Amino acid sequence: MRILIIGGGGREHVIAAGIKSSKHNPSIYAVMAKKNPGIAVLCEDFLLEKETDVEKVIGYAKSRNIDIAFVGPEAPLAAGISDALWEAGISVIGPKKTCAIIEFDKAWTRNFMKKYGIEGCPTYKIFTEEGPAHAFIEKLGDVAVKPSGLTGGKGVKVMGDQLPDIEAAKTYTSMLLEKGSVVIEERLIGEEFTLQALVDGKSLVFFPAVQDHKRAYEGDLGPNTGGMGSYTDAEEILPFMLSEDLDKAKQIMKSTVKALYEETKTEYMGILYGQFILTSSGPKVVEFNARFGDPEAMNIIPIIETDFVEIMLAVVKGTLGKLPVKFSRKATVCKYAVPAGYPDNPEKDSEVIVEDLGEALVYYASVYEKGGKIYTTGSRAVAIVGCAETIDAAEKIAQNALENIRGNLFFRKDIGTAALIQKRIDHMKELRS
Ligand code: GLY
Repeated sequence: MRILIIGGGGREHVIAAGIKSSKHNPSIYAVMAKKNPGIAVLCEDFLLEKETDVEKVIGYAKSRNIDIAFVGPEAPLAAGISDALWEAGISVIGPKKTCAIIEFDKAWTRNFMKKYGIEGCPTYKIFTEEGPAHAFIEKLGDVAVKPSGLTGGKGVKVMGDQLPDIEAAKTYTSMLLEKGSVVIEERLIGEEFTLQALVDGKSLVFFPAVQDHKRAYEGDLGPNTGGMGSYTDAEEILPFMLSEDLDKAKQIMKSTVKALYEETKTEYMGILYGQFILTSSGPKVVEFNARFGDPEAMNIIPIIETDFVEIMLAVVKGTLGKLPVKFSRKATVCKYAVPAGYPDNPEKDSEVIVEDLGEALVYYASVYEKGGKIYTTGSRAVAIVGCAETIDAAEKIAQNALENIRGNLFFRKDIGTAALIQKRIDHMKELRS
């Protein structure tokens, strides 16, 4: 079996590790924009190329007789990489462009949710002109502002968070309108969680719910990032959730896959990522993504017990319904070590020394290797994961390992701690009372 991974970040490193652990002993190949040293050592061979260069990726995949590909990030999906791979006779984990639109066009997705009556859609409108957009912001009074297209997770701004008031929301909207359409929607108040599922066109297999932490600094302060760390419980739900919240989120994702087929006549094959806010009236959809989350993939892939290659084959053959996908009942805590100054003014080319990690798992993200040493590039550098019977024990494994990583880096000590989790539980109790 010859498997191609497209992408070169932390998420793709954990995907590569999952594939490597298969008893089928697959040969791994990769296309990545920059060499990820963690992925490179797991590969027979790799191509350093833009992952969105469809022609080059297909040429490489054909030259290596690839059987199946796994697309990590969203940009190649939006560029139509899955369509081209299927056309070349290569099976793909990652939906075709007609379905991946659910991630790369936020306006399309909201209209699609409305058309098919999918639950959890907030009040929203889509605008191309400033006057009506500003009037709608005034009317709602408390809003989230989203550019329609892909922005690498950095385009959505929310009042009470990155937008201090209505005037700031209007100014940001006007700026976005110069580039394209804008979705304005009611601000959702609650606790965020992520639900990820394998989808084979019809069936969905859900992974445990994850909570990511977007803010750079402890106490959920500072600028937004791609995600500083995340945790799962040994249960499917998180400590601030009820089982009915998870059931509702699963139902929303199942309805979404069914409706996507009705709308596009194309089967969704890959990972569906639902980002939800658990509000006082249940889970609401912030957005859908067409791939694993980063860091959320790091919480899930290490606890999968079923053979990873068999899972991939079941996705592309449409036989997930017949494969029992098992996880170890362990809690996980993932924390990213990031360069000093990240995200606004990160220190680049700074050495990272990773030693004595104990039981923790390590995944490289934005780092490079030179002369046998590892250096930062400026984005999230190294993800450390602890897996244990409880969140508390998993947190300690991750924390101890992070304290042994040397370099001009920082990480959030509070992710996965009992104090922060209690804050989430108290917040939900207050909202539900
Ligand atoms: N952690 C957020 C994302 O992957 O979109």
